[in-house]
Amino acid sequence: MTDQKAPSQNIKRYTITAALPYTNGPVHIGHLAGVYVPADIYARYLRLTDKDVLFVCGSDEHGVPITIRAKKEGVTPQEIVDKYHAIIKKSFEDFGITFDNYSRTSAKIHHETATEFFKKLYDDGKFIEETSAQLYDAEAKQFLADRFVIGTCPKCGNEESYGDQCENCGTSHNATDLINPKSAITGNKPSLKETKHWYLPLEQYEKWLREWIVEGHKSDWKTNVLGQVKSWLDDGLRPRAVTRDLDWGIPVPVKGGEGKVLYVWFDAPIGYISSTKEWAAQNGKDWEPYWKSNDTKLVHFIGKDNIVFHCIIFPAMLKAEGSYILPDNVPANEFLNLEGNKISTSKNWAVWLHEYLEDFPDKQDVLRYALTANAPETKDNDFTWKDFQARNNNELVAIFGNFINRVVVLTNKYYDGIVPKHYNFTEGDAQALEQLQQFPAVIGKSIERYRFREASQELMNLARLGNKYLADAEPWKLIKTDAARVETIMYVALQIAAGLAVLSEPFLPFTSQKLKKLLNVIPTEAQSADEESQKPVVQNDEIATSRLVGIRNDQSKCNVTSSAVERSWRSILENTELLNPGHQIGKPVLLFDKIEDADVQKQLDKLAATKKANKVENQIAVPQKEMVSFEDFTKLDIRIGTILEAEKVAKTKKLLKLKVDVGMDVRTIVSGIAESFSAADIIGKRVTVLVNLAPRNIKGIESQGMILMTDTSDGKLAFIEPENDDVVNGGQVS
Ligand code: 2FM
Ligand code: ZN
Repeated sequence: MTDQKAPSQNIKRYTITAALPYTNGPVHIGHLAGVYVPADIYARYLRLTDKDVLFVCGSDEHGVPITIRAKKEGVTPQEIVDKYHAIIKKSFEDFGITFDNYSRTSAKIHHETATEFFKKLYDDGKFIEETSAQLYDAEAKQFLADRFVIGTCPKCGNEESYGDQCENCGTSHNATDLINPKSAITGNKPSLKETKHWYLPLEQYEKWLREWIVEGHKSDWKTNVLGQVKSWLDDGLRPRAVTRDLDWGIPVPVKGGEGKVLYVWFDAPIGYISSTKEWAAQNGKDWEPYWKSNDTKLVHFIGKDNIVFHCIIFPAMLKAEGSYILPDNVPANEFLNLEGNKISTSKNWAVWLHEYLEDFPDKQDVLRYALTANAPETKDNDFTWKDFQARNNNELVAIFGNFINRVVVLTNKYYDGIVPKHYNFTEGDAQALEQLQQFPAVIGKSIERYRFREASQELMNLARLGNKYLADAEPWKLIKTDAARVETIMYVALQIAAGLAVLSEPFLPFTSQKLKKLLNVIPTEAQSADEESQKPVVQNDEIATSRLVGIRNDQSKCNVTSSAVERSWRSILENTELLNPGHQIGKPVLLFDKIEDADVQKQLDKLAATKKANKVENQIAVPQKEMVSFEDFTKLDIRIGTILEAEKVAKTKKLLKLKVDVGMDVRTIVSGIAESFSAADIIGKRVTVLVNLAPRNIKGIESQGMILMTDTSDGKLAFIEPENDDVVNGGQVS
């Protein structure tokens, strides 16, 4: 039992949770940047520093999003959750997210845990039971909770707010708070119908929440998180229904609860606890210290739309239950946009992880790096494929990869791959080694403060340090004149390379593994094989068969990398040698490849196709204009012409001055098409022209007609051209 005080300073274990993804679609880069990559960096880092870490997650399989998806696909909710649970689980594994357990909320253990939790609160009188009028869709015979209802947010005026939460301002509300509610099932205006539910009286926890978070965590919680929490508390909390009239979810386990289920946001966070229980059962461990001991540090990684649930509702539930610890921190990230637009599962506007892994099967680390270096930690950020390419080509290839390649190539060239010994260190050598020694603490501090962008840039700074060291020392010049000095230079450079192998692990785990193999500091083949069954790593037979001899300390006993690496993480700090003279490293292999323009273009084309498909799907036919008589129509003289000349009209954005051959003459027409076409590209184009439009003066030019145009699905203009080449200029359109 715990007294639910702040965790003691003497932390014995870490419970790290990552938001349970809804199984209404696959995982995308927004999820990765906001939650899973930072959480994984944090978990990996703590493991490398010898902490007792439990990192749990699982699929969130209840709630309205699942039923909506099932309806859309014409299948059962169970089929939906089975399909996406499998896709999500596999993509996380392939991407190197090291959950200790990935469970699902349809698991028996979860149903039992959530049921028990609800019952305890019920038995302890922590709920209010109330019958009230709720929104109801008579046609669908369905109460309209959560995403089943859309309306105007009472706080920010967003007309597309859901019943339980507005995605625009993040406010969490009750469905009846919406202005002009509309059923998301039939589009009907809902009626009101009486129904009984159980409410958690959040207002009773307001004072305690304010003390705990706003007063207690002022200095260590992120300002975006504190800001949101403060604003909810300032607005005043109200009772929150924790049950729903739905047929998909965990049945309400008390009298009167028949036909009702637990609110998905009541059961989902309990999923962290049930995932822990599942892990403990599978590994012969005790789950309770991870949730009930004051010397455990609980950290929730989430996106900003989940802040209210993790900072207000779940803590209030834990407080009401009484025996659990509270989160020490909730480092929520803001949102990641994609190429300037909000990521959207329903609009398919996303880079899906499983598709990325198909397109770039050995580039997990490139995405991990691009998402970390551009993480939406303090404000929304934009992911662009150009930036992704630049992060790879200009940083991973040109800085990190380049340094390692130089070190490995030169060591092979000068010493057949054997680490040389060093002689007296110059000031520059000593400085480089001293700086190397500071990196674990610098990077670790940033990670511990949840500043993953900063941490990733520090890692890159170590590679920069290596490049600068080599560029200043110029071993390739000295080799002819001072071979002994070159030995010392290469010795130092190799220590930096080994430092990178160790310190890159939380951020670039696949690269770290590849680099350790390259430096030949990986355990024996059998041990490697064991590890390879868990993570895909690049094969290099020659290296894989060699034994670990490079890292100091007790290498022969080194089992999998974590223990060896942990020692070397500390070794750097302790200024011990990472690679001993005499140690044999491997032959050069490139750590990263360039990403070509064509690769990026392929991804951009994919997005353009999505945009086009969305536009076609959403296209609302423009209403027909007023009727005209046949006589009115015959007044229009429309003819086919050919553009002979085109030039931009000075000081305008949209206008081109055209000379058009319309058969009977060549005339000047000013046309507002410059945003869709360049002048040079349209010479010779066949066009349709309204030739008897009264001349108009546009920017001092007399325009003698109008080119007829239409719209393309991506918002550009298109000419109306005769299909047949035989149509002559002046041919009439009738
Ligand atoms: O926003 C979401 O995707 C939710 N499924 C997150 C749930 S987090 C937790 F509480 F389980
Ligand atoms: Zn809003």
